[in-house]
Amino acid sequence: MLKIGDIEMKNQVVLAPMAGVCNPAFRLIAKEFGTGLVCAEMVSDKAIIHGNKRTREMLFVDEREKPLSLQIFGGDRESLVEAAKVVDQETNADIIDINMGCPVNKIIKCEAGAKWLLDPNKIYEMVSAVVDAVKKPVSVKMRIGWDEDHIFAIENAQAAERAGASAIAMHGRTRVQMYEGKANWDVLKEVKKNINIPFIGNGDVETPQDAKRMIDEVGVDAVMIGRAALGDPWMIYRTVQYLETGELKPEPSVREKMDVC
Ligand SMILES: Cc1cc2nc3c(=O)[nH]c(=O)nc-3n(C[C@H](O)[C@H](O)[C@H](O)COP(=O)(O)O)c2cc1C
Repeated sequence: MLKIGDIEMKNQVVLAPMAGVCNPAFRLIAKEFGTGLVCAEMVSDKAIIHGNKRTREMLFVDEREKPLSLQIFGGDRESLVEAAKVVDQETNADIIDINMGCPVNKIIKCEAGAKWLLDPNKIYEMVSAVVDAVKKPVSVKMRIGWDEDHIFAIENAQAAERAGASAIAMHGRTRVQMYEGKANWDVLKEVKKNINIPFIGNGDVETPQDAKRMIDEVGVDAVMIGRAALGDPWMIYRTVQYLETGELKPEPSVREKMDVC
């Protein structure tokens, strides 16, 4: 089973953090459908520190959602550490996750998100600073690299591990790919072989069978599911069941979908 720091998950299925999607209502539904670990949408470090009301609301964690990972992003060490302390001391989250994968320009311009993928030293410094400042386990979520010519997946993952991260989730695309093309599971496989902390694979898990294939072929400790769960929490339920029993449950009926709506 997946264990991050001293937090134990009941299975190997993780709901990916998705901005604008992974709010408490959606997370709770995903949880009810069996998700082992739910991730909240990313929150800006500066917004956390400035304490605006909407951001503070984004930090709310319902007891029933736990274990839950709360993701922060930022480009500046001091504010990232301060925000991590707020999540550590003032929220009900179990894990603090650092975003190193967001590809959008607005975030990159602030030296945050996927920008870090070009600099393993920065990853080491930032993650160490956060780990030293908090009690909760810290994980990171990254992409395999910036573009095809800058894939530092192993160096970056090892830097995070050396810095004290308790787990790594990796999306098998580069920043430049955004959400296009195919996720590169071969790179994920190489990363898994080169680190010793739990490794969560992400990208193009669209069916329960894909999840099993990622576990068997890539060797990941858990699978992270994003878009396939959008509007379809049954995908998560069916994946959990398939991994646990080998049985492929049928797609939900219209009636079942209406009931959950
Ligand atoms: C609408 C949307 C919002 C996302 N927001 C975040 C986010 O806040 N933090 C993050 O690390 N990744 C975010 N992602 C990326 C996903 O977590 C995931 O890495 C990506 O969708 C690939 O996985 P998939 O093929 O299972 O969808 C987002 C993706 C989507 C589609």
